[in-house]
Amino acid sequence: MTKFASCIMEKNGPQIITLPKIFDPRGSLTFVEGGRHVPFDIMRAYWIYDVPAGEERGGHSHIDMHQLLIATGGSFDVNVTDGFSERTFTLNRPFEGLYIPPGIWRTITNFASGSVCLSLVNLPYYEEDYIREYDEFLKRARENGPII
Ligand code: TYD
Repeated sequence: MTKFASCIMEKNGPQIITLPKIFDPRGSLTFVEGGRHVPFDIMRAYWIYDVPAGEERGGHSHIDMHQLLIATGGSFDVNVTDGFSERTFTLNRPFEGLYIPPGIWRTITNFASGSVCLSLVNLPYYEEDYIREYDEFLKRARENGPII
């Protein structure tokens, strides 16, 4: 984490990061810089939208991928577990992001109609970084210890 000394983190686990918000009578503006507001370089962005009511996204963990999830519109819940304990974060503010380090199983639920989930990550897409079997995730979690 020394490379990203300017990004102050209260701890290493999943946590809300409050991003800068520029107030303006014309509308608000928020921005994020890799290595400054998040403890990783931003290499890829993707977003999830048009989620039908009751559907769930995620349902996996990552080996090396760091991530920031932002509700750029609408609202949804992100449940995170390290295999030892779990937390649920509601994202509904465009200036707040949920930082998720590697080794965390996440599920995203309760999408309000019209929600957009923006994801900023440090790696290109490659399937080998995914852990999609929960038993495999738990096995690795036991080896690596608690993160939350
Ligand atoms: P996945 O990450 O499993 O979705 P979720 O948001 O629910 O976690 O990705 C769903 C599909 O999209 C999967 O087949 C891989 C593909 N995909 C890419 O091709 N590139 C990407 O950058 C991402 C995130 C997914």
